[in-house]
Amino acid sequence: MPDTKKLFIKTYGCQMNVYDSERMAETLGAEGYVVTEVAEEADMVLLNTCHIREKASEKLYSDLGRLRPLKQAKPDLKIGVAGCVAQAEGEEILRRMPLVDLVVGPQSYHRLPGMMEDIAKGKKAVDTDFPAEDKFDHLPERKVLRGPSAFLTVQEGCDKFCAFCVVPYTRGAEVSRPVARLLGEARALVEKGVREITLLGQNVNAYHGAGEDGAWGLARLVRALAKIDGLERIRYTTSHPNDMEDDLIAAHGEEAKLMPYLHLPVQSGSDRILKAMNRKHTRDQYFRLVERIRAARPDILLSSDFIVGFPGESDADFADTMDLIRQVGFGAAFSFKYSARPGTPAAEKTPVEAEVADARLQELQALITSQQRAAQEAMVGREVAVLYEKAGRLPGQMVGKSDHLHAVHVTDPSARVGDLVRVRITSSAPNSLAGLRIAAETVS
Ligand code: SAH
Ligand code: SF4
Ligand code: F3S
Repeated sequence: MPDTKKLFIKTYGCQMNVYDSERMAETLGAEGYVVTEVAEEADMVLLNTCHIREKASEKLYSDLGRLRPLKQAKPDLKIGVAGCVAQAEGEEILRRMPLVDLVVGPQSYHRLPGMMEDIAKGKKAVDTDFPAEDKFDHLPERKVLRGPSAFLTVQEGCDKFCAFCVVPYTRGAEVSRPVARLLGEARALVEKGVREITLLGQNVNAYHGAGEDGAWGLARLVRALAKIDGLERIRYTTSHPNDMEDDLIAAHGEEAKLMPYLHLPVQSGSDRILKAMNRKHTRDQYFRLVERIRAARPDILLSSDFIVGFPGESDADFADTMDLIRQVGFGAAFSFKYSARPGTPAAEKTPVEAEVADARLQELQALITSQQRAAQEAMVGREVAVLYEKAGRLPGQMVGKSDHLHAVHVTDPSARVGDLVRVRITSSAPNSLAGLRIAAETVS
């Protein structure tokens, strides 16, 4: 057995990075590392980074700066940078920050063991390849779990090349994992106590993984997963409007384990801007899609992502976005000020004035907040299912997620994490609901 060493991982960015961090912890676990929550006691610090907006990238460099005293006090400390900034900047990170020992991209982290050997000898290790082999075939078994709800990456990369986005460059081309592997990984998670799985992909609904009889779409994968006993809930994110196939929409109406929540980013409500963004659909197409989804599952809660201040966005374009939000009615949304990313086509264009973009962002966020409140308040008095994820801050309190992905606080002293219970919602706070457990027994 190798000596036990301590690994501290900080994760930035999207859920796919959360998943990758878990897999990297498992990979380094096989090399004798155990995870610590305390950076000061670590032998290895790994920063799993995000490149999506300028601010996200800059965080890496300020965090590396903060690690300097730690490295000075403990010269054996190894520092690694993983994720999308690693992929985008590679060796440049070593030049800018000589305290870094290792740089590994999101498609090559199965090679960490070999890289660790190199840095143990005092060398620097950089791997930002898009290797031919499937990294998932070279990773150890799932071990690191965050509770009863787990992520499962089913698809990676993106071929859509929206004009503002770095993902096709940092994550590479779209690849879907084979069906059998995913069913196997899901079963293993369920055996370890997982009851809810969120299927992940930068374009998850473009999934087309190899099954025993040809390529499977996401709907078929969902239906197969739903047959796993003990798996109670299935979610997926992030989906693209152009990949919402009929069978996936139908599954929302037919498959009880598929939860009534869908993140369906639209980015803008202006046809002109959608075109400039290379989103390849119109606002009307989005409206019609929402109608079809709601026809299949009337109580579905929709969320979205918005970018304000995309180059060329006029007051009228922004008004179209606000109008789209009013017409659709979202349960939640993430909104961002456009950030010019090196190497993307939109970065060549003249940006909207910062003050204008700031004001639009505020206005949009106020509307989204009011819609989110309304969606939460509509839950008050209703009976919902809640999967407890952790103990709350108050004695005897549990916190979990409802089917509609609302955080729900329940005073339930005899409950355990992982219980799926029925709850009557009694009140709504800014970012969560509170409720009373109804029946003594769990839902299943
Ligand atoms: N695949 C998803 C998005 C992944 S990135 C999709 O197509 O919807 C997550 C979100 O970050 C995007 O939906 C977008 O709203 C935002 N984003 C991406 N690039 C950005 C940029 N350059 N500036 C501001 N926001 C950006
Ligand atoms: Fe980025 Fe567009 Fe791909 Fe989403 S679909 S990851 S926004 S390029
Ligand atoms: Fe960020 Fe990479 Fe995810 S850029 S949003 S961590 S795919």
